[in-house]
Formats: sequence, structure tokens, C-alpha cells
Amino acid sequence: MAATVVVGLQWGDEGKGKTTDLLAESVSHVVRYQGGDNAGHTVVLADEVFKLHLVPSGVLYPHITPVVGSGVVVNPETLLAEMATLAERGVDTARIRVSDAAHVIMPYHVTLDRASEARLAGGGIGTTQRGIGPAYADRASRTGVRMGDLLDPDGLRARLERAVPEKNAILVHVHGLEPFDLDALYDQAIAWGERLREHIVDTVGLVQRALAEGDHVLLEGAQGTLLDLDHGTYPYVTSSNPVAGGACTGGGIGPLQVDQVIGVLKAYSTRVGSGPFPTELTDHRGRHLVEKGHEFGTTTGRRRRCGWLDAVPLRYAIAVNSVSSMMVNKLDILSGLPEVQVCVGYRIDGRIVDEWPVRAGDLARAEPVYETFHGWEADLRGARRLQDLPHEALAYLDGLEALAGAPIALVSVGPERTQTIVRSEQPARTIGTAGEQDASKRRLLGRLPRRPIAGSVATARAPGAG
Ligand code: GDP
Ligand code: IMO
Ligand code: MG
Repeated sequence: MAATVVVGLQWGDEGKGKTTDLLAESVSHVVRYQGGDNAGHTVVLADEVFKLHLVPSGVLYPHITPVVGSGVVVNPETLLAEMATLAERGVDTARIRVSDAAHVIMPYHVTLDRASEARLAGGGIGTTQRGIGPAYADRASRTGVRMGDLLDPDGLRARLERAVPEKNAILVHVHGLEPFDLDALYDQAIAWGERLREHIVDTVGLVQRALAEGDHVLLEGAQGTLLDLDHGTYPYVTSSNPVAGGACTGGGIGPLQVDQVIGVLKAYSTRVGSGPFPTELTDHRGRHLVEKGHEFGTTTGRRRRCGWLDAVPLRYAIAVNSVSSMMVNKLDILSGLPEVQVCVGYRIDGRIVDEWPVRAGDLARAEPVYETFHGWEADLRGARRLQDLPHEALAYLDGLEALAGAPIALVSVGPERTQTIVRSEQPARTIGTAGEQDASKRRLLGRLPRRPIAGSVATARAPGAG
């Protein structure tokens, strides 16, 4: 029995979609465990680009059961649209399973998210305006609607009769907006239930049966540790728990069923929305990262703020997720920079601080203390083995690993599935003979990808589909 968690170690957009797709080849189920359609996970197969918001990134393999777990908040409209787009592109969506306990993002959640952000006029969180916070708030207040309710007309009406008058009072009296019509909401929700009936199941039972049968389950996080409601830069966070612990509650597995936690990070940092970002670069180096890295949000199209990698919160993220190994994405984007820096501590009022969390007020005054690495010019996109990387890039990975304190197992040099280097479970400095490397790879991947990394669009096609 084995469950592997894929978790973001920064502020989201670390490339979790690519990592999940890569690791999903030899698992049976991929489970999204939290977040909603605020997520935007990109998977690239040959020249085809898939942007996923709710559907787990494993969907492109025909043998996988993609599961939307109970910890996810589901906008049924988005889910249906995403399923339709995938089906048009030949992906079999009949396999998708959605937890009956997952909460529904209702239209009033989206309106409330937008209204409260607008009310704060620039002082807001900078949310994706998808209704995520209000939907999770209703879940905690026990006034939410769950996916299973969409199949229970009487229960649904009772839930809405309880929730809608209160939402309308807030919309009308606090925000000066129009109220929602309860009957129209009810009809819409029943219609969603009819269209999604075959997909809504008890996903905990499904996942537990798979594990009991010896299948390998991959749990895909959305957002990242620094956006976690408990561990992130509160209040500039999302409203769920992206950390690996969230995979247990939101995916329906126990902590001892997890045998690996793969932490995903970018070779630099990005952040979308408001909140502290000590290593942010607003000069030509920041522009290099935005432009070369195409750092624009998958969900909202917003320009992502970019900066150097920050080892201070990274070490914290590795600890709270109990990361067993890491995948470093987008190393290719650093090519062309004369030097590359990593933050190793902050100077705050003359003191050096190297432990996270740092109070928000202190963080605002924090001056990063950097370790500087030589840059490199070479284009890394064609590299497939460690030996293909320039020694400066290898030194950067070695330095990063030492600063982070967790092994870098996989390195990505391009968005496509095959643009990946299996590094080692061991720190680079101790990499030995080819035989030792192979043994190390086997230990690392366990029952994960056994075959060479295959990058064929054909694998994304459902059997019999064009
Ligand atoms: P996620 O939300 O963590 O899944 O990440 P996103 O998909 O929002 O953002 C990552 C972006 O980087 C996507 O456009 C990926 O296709 C792309 N990407 C992932 N890995 C690499 C890489 O190694 N190099 C380059 N150039 N792009 C990458
Ligand atoms: P993936 O899964 C990056 C950010 C928003 C905002 C904050 C709260 O693609 O990595 P929310 O709409 O969740 O209430 O917004 O969180 N945010 C993300 N940033 N990647 C994401 O997802 C994000 N999902 C939410 O920009 O700052
Ligand atoms: Mg994203």
C-alpha cells in the first residue's frame, strides 16, 4: 500500500502539473486533495498544452482514475466546462470521480469573493475571485452545499433555504448588490447534479480500496506551502491546506499510508497576488524571469511577481511537509543570467534571522542575505542527463540541495514531459558509478515510473479516440 504526495513548496505555480503528470505514469489513481479552480496546472505533451483547474493532472493517462477529493471546493460549472474541453481533445472523462463530500462553490460565493476584494480596494488579498474563500468559510460554518446534495432534491432545498437568505442579506445590505433567487439556484444545482451524477461517489472508499489492493495512489496538491492557511504568509494565503497533511484530510488517507512526499519547487520564486515576498526582483533580472519564464497566471493571466529562490521558507516547507525528495522545475529559465542568488537569511533591524516563520511586520523590513552562484549561458532545454548540464548549473543544484537540506531527485529543463533529468536520491556530491546511480533511481522512484519517460500525445488519448 503506497500513497505519494506531490506538494508545492513555494507560493504555487511551481510546476506541480508537470511533476504530477510525470510521476503518474505507473499509478492507478491521481487525487486532487484541496483548493478549487483557483489552481491552474499546465501539462505539456509534445506540442499539446493542457491547462487543468479542477481535473487531476493524471487525467492524460488512459489507465488512471482521476479523483477530486473531499478537500476540494468544486465549481460544477468549471468542472463541466473543463471536462467538455478535455473530451473534445480526445481525453476520456467518464473515469473522473468527484467526492460526494466535496463542497460546491455556489454563484453567491463567487460574487461575495469579488465584492469583498472590491470593497478592500487594493488592500485585498488579490484572490483569483473564484469564490474559494467564501466556499471554505461556509464549509467551516456548516452552511455549505456538498456535491452529494446535488443528488438529493429535498436535502438540497433545505441546505439552500438555510444558506441563501443569509447570503442575500450580506449581498444587499453590506455590498449593495442584487440578491440571488433561491428557486433559480435550486434549479441550477439540480441540473448540475443530473449532469455529474455518474461521477459523484464516495471517493474515500474508492481510494482506500485501491490502496488495500496494492495500487499506488498519487495525491496532487494545489497552490503551495506559503499559501497554506496555517503555514503560509497569513492573511495573504488561500483558504485550504496545500501542505502534505492536507492530502490526508482532503484525500481520505491516513498519515501512515503516505510513503513519499515529493516537494516541487521552481529554480526561482514567483508569487501572484498580494503579500510579502522578500526576494522579489523589480529590475531587469525580475523581467528576465517573467519574460523567459512566461510568468503569467494560468487561471487569471496576471503577471506573476518574480524573484530569487528563498531558502528560509523553503527549509520550513521541507519540514512541515516531511519532504522525502524534491523536483526542481524551470532550471532552463536561469540561463543567461550572469549570477544567480539564493536567500539564506534576512537582516532585520541589524539582526540576522534565518528561521521561518518571520512576523509579517518584520518581513516587510527584511533585507535578504544572499549566497551568490555563477550563472551560465548555455540553453538547458535539450539536457536529459546530469552530464548535459554546465558545471555552474550543477553547482547551483548542489548549493540549493545543501541549503534546503533535502535531496533533489528530479530536475526539469522545459515544460514537456521528456524535458526531465533524473538526478538522484543522493546529494550530487555523493553520486557514484552508473550502477550506483541506477540503484539510487530505483530507490527513489519505487513503484513510480518504471518505463523511460515517454512523451507521446498518443498516451493522452482515450482508447479508440481520435
Ligand atoms: P502549477 O500550478 O504548479 O502546476 O504550475 P503552472 O502550470 O501554473 O506553472 C508552471 C509553468 O511552467 C507551466 O506553464 C509549465 O508548463 C511550465 N514549466 C514547468 N516546468 C518547466 C520547466 O522546467 N521549464 C520551463 N521552461 N517551463 C516549465
Ligand atoms: P496553483 O495550484 C498561485 C493565490 C492568489 C491569492 C491567494 C488567495 O496553480 O499553484 P484564492 O483565490 O485562493 O482565495 O487566492 O492565493 N493563489 C495562487 N497563486 N498559484 C495558485 O494555484 C494559486 N491559487 C491561489 O493569487 O494571492
Ligand atoms: Mg498554477
